[in-house]
Amino acid sequence: MTTRFADSSVLVTGGGSGIGRAIALAFAAEGARVAVAGRSAAPLAETVELIERAGGKAVALTGDVTDSRDAARLVRETVEQFGALDVAVNNAGVFAAPGPIADIDEAEWQRLFDTNVTGTLFAMKHQIGHMRANGGGAIVNVSSNLGVHRRMEGAGAYVTSKAAVTALTRSAARDHIADGVRINLVSPGPVATDMSTRAGESEAEKAERMKAEVPVGRAGAVAEIAAAVLYLASPEAGYTVGADLVLDGGVTA
Ligand SMILES: NC(=O)c1ccc[n+]([C@@H]2O[C@H](COP(=O)([O-])OP(=O)(O)OC[C@H]3O[C@@H](n4cnc5c(N)ncnc54)[C@H](OP(=O)(O)O)[C@@H]3O)[C@@H](O)[C@H]2O)c1
Repeated sequence: MTTRFADSSVLVTGGGSGIGRAIALAFAAEGARVAVAGRSAAPLAETVELIERAGGKAVALTGDVTDSRDAARLVRETVEQFGALDVAVNNAGVFAAPGPIADIDEAEWQRLFDTNVTGTLFAMKHQIGHMRANGGGAIVNVSSNLGVHRRMEGAGAYVTSKAAVTALTRSAARDHIADGVRINLVSPGPVATDMSTRAGESEAEKAERMKAEVPVGRAGAVAEIAAAVLYLASPEAGYTVGADLVLDGGVTA
């Protein structure tokens, strides 16, 4: 175990699966106490078990980031459990491709905005509120290369929501660096989780599609995204504020 985050208390939203779980495991492996949050208890408990089995310290907190009271409670409970909140990673998000703009499913548009944009806002609002009153901290948000960097047919709702996440994150970075809260984001391309699998697509078909779509010839590994998040959250990135780190195997190079 290395100790880059020894004595740090970290909150990861969407920590029960995929990229968020990998981020939680990576922080714990570097000495952090990690609170993982999401709506479903069972996957969060699995993440906690994986961390504890590896000798780390973690707690599962159920909550929905689209509810501001839940977002506030997640901060409060992390502090109650671990005595502090030093780092927050806002990774909770949903993907859908609810059709071309003229035919868009309006309820899906709203769901994507509620979770990806408003959920990130509520989470950050309460995290920053705590951090600025308690000596500062670092926040890393998980956006996407779909958004500011790239668009996709039929996925305008997701693309627009992630462009908003990017703008929101960079706005917060400017607003709150003077408060001692350092805020950055990562913009992954396709990563090897269920979210990047198309309906009805087999693993072999997905691998072929990745070979064609991604210059490095594969989807990103969750650990590759986690490594970048840990860097941005670490003191080594002290001069990095409002950065948008694109991790997409060259898709938008
Ligand atoms: N996989 C990719 O190719 C890719 C590429 C670029 C960006 N991303 C972004 O990376 C992030 C993680 O994606 P992933 O691939 O790891 O997908 P995932 O496994 O579906 O993870 C999403 C997580 O967010 C949680 N979540 C969703 N809505 C929530 C809410 N309202 N409140 C609290 N938690 C909520 C989910 O848990 P519950 O359902 O239990 O709440 C789940 O653990 C997302 O923001 C996604 O947009 C993914």
